[in-house]
Amino acid sequence: MGYIGRREAAPLIVEGLKRLEYRGYDSFGVATKNKGITLAKHQGRISENAGSVSRLKGKIGIGHTRWATHGAPSDENAHPHADCSGKIALVHNGIIENYSGLRLQLLERGHTFRSETDTEVIVHLIEEEYAKKKDLLVAVQEVIPRIKGSFAILVIAEDEDLIIAARNASPLVIGIGDGENFIASDMTPMLEYTERAIFLEDGDIVSLTQDAVEILNNGQKVTRPVELIDWSVEDVKKGGFAHYMLKEIYEQPQAFYNTIRAINQGSLPRFARHPDSITVVACGSSFHAGLIFKYLVEGTCKIPTRLEYASEFRYYPPPVNGLVIGITQSGETADTLTALRQAKAHNCRTLAITNVLGSTVTRIADATLFMRAGPEISVAATKSFISQLAVLMQVISNLCGGKEEGILLQAHKSIEEVLLMDLTDSVQFCKEAQSIFYVGRGPFFAVSLEGALKMKEISYIHAEGYAAGELKHGPFALLSEKTPVIALCMPGETYGVMMSNIKEMKARGAPVIAIGCIGDTELSDIADHFIALPRTDLFIQVLTTLVVLQLLAYRTADALGRDIDKPRNLAKSVTVE
Ligand code: F6R
Repeated sequence: MGYIGRREAAPLIVEGLKRLEYRGYDSFGVATKNKGITLAKHQGRISENAGSVSRLKGKIGIGHTRWATHGAPSDENAHPHADCSGKIALVHNGIIENYSGLRLQLLERGHTFRSETDTEVIVHLIEEEYAKKKDLLVAVQEVIPRIKGSFAILVIAEDEDLIIAARNASPLVIGIGDGENFIASDMTPMLEYTERAIFLEDGDIVSLTQDAVEILNNGQKVTRPVELIDWSVEDVKKGGFAHYMLKEIYEQPQAFYNTIRAINQGSLPRFARHPDSITVVACGSSFHAGLIFKYLVEGTCKIPTRLEYASEFRYYPPPVNGLVIGITQSGETADTLTALRQAKAHNCRTLAITNVLGSTVTRIADATLFMRAGPEISVAATKSFISQLAVLMQVISNLCGGKEEGILLQAHKSIEEVLLMDLTDSVQFCKEAQSIFYVGRGPFFAVSLEGALKMKEISYIHAEGYAAGELKHGPFALLSEKTPVIALCMPGETYGVMMSNIKEMKARGAPVIAIGCIGDTELSDIADHFIALPRTDLFIQVLTTLVVLQLLAYRTADALGRDIDKPRNLAKSVTVE
């Protein structure tokens, strides 16, 4: 994040970085320009070390919160990085692929490196050009073509009253204020100050002063539209909840409803209305949303649908001339972006589903459908996931009539009922577990994958989602009284065979937590614990089961005292392949 204006930059940037910590949180730092450049940075969380950083003086500043790629988390490897003279400072998001060769050359030319990062080469290259040109913008323009990889960089120098920024494949947004300007990886740190945003494009180099924004691309001045952001600052505050994740779970009824309302019969672009086949690419939770979609769209619309992890898409023969849907709440997941670019290269038409206005995916895809989840701060996807499903259900409605809108518009009420459920007994079981299996069939197999992902990422308990019929082909060997099975057993075509599967698992000593419908005494009798959900439409049951599994993961992680919003080793926006 960068700031230039009339306020003290450091405390404002530190507060802003707290909002960006979901992108990485192993170390952080700020550099300001006052008389000279001053810099403070620390390994660890902002909340633990903010003091000395906030006290830096100056009305121009840049800051960074890091998720280590090159070089372990440490004070030295934290950004900003300075040149040899300490007169130029830089922060960088992304990866410089050709850094090792550049580093050797710079060492031979006498530069001193203070970190193990790929980033530091950029500031030394700028140092050399700045010595020749005495103009920071020109120096950055000279350096950019020499670095390969993904980057969003911000640079300040002792002798210049501006911030220079550049982007390639990593997001950057300018926030336009009155007599002050902001720039950051996303809008969330600026929501208090402005709602006017400019989303930068790849290749943009920006000169940002207190009163002016100048954007260059390929050496030419360009103008980019100013967009109004309708996220409010309240959306990015915890609002009395213990964690963002819990707040976001509770926001799901509204997020689902808003998204259903926002997408209608005409929303699907013309090119996507009559596909012969569909390919979906996504990662993590978004992949699970894709799997639920695959079950439902093939079942309802009879359109053959292929689903690939975005990171594996390149290893299969690509679809030719088909419709490819990329699902990514952040709009920045590198593998999903790459898969969509590849699909376009094979003449496929591409449709993105995302939560973030101006995100990179919106520039790549031929068309975008936006969810209306509002900002999601917690690393674990919850309301964005439910909102992806809302978009996907409306896509099915567009394709073949699908669900009646009336049912979808009522779904939030069933989600609200689930939010009030007491899961104390089940939490007790889960928090003692060595490992937990989640099993289901049909769309509930996809739900089991998502439930297990939520549990493992925030509680650190090993959890696996399985197609219920697959457990006997190997994983049965792991069943014991320490490995509870969470069985998703809803009325419908899978009910009978799920009941048989549950009996098999119990016979092998595993305690079973069954999730089914209110009034199902047969199920409640065989289960060790029974979680009863409202008896509704199949799709709504998918939603309510998901929400109960999110809550179960949350409550278990909370009982274990985990760092729920920022689980270890994870970042929300995965901008590297
Ligand atoms: C899990 C989670 C991740 C993301 C994945 C893809 O709770 O949040 O698995 O779903 O990193 O992210 P997006 O949707 O931004 O592409």
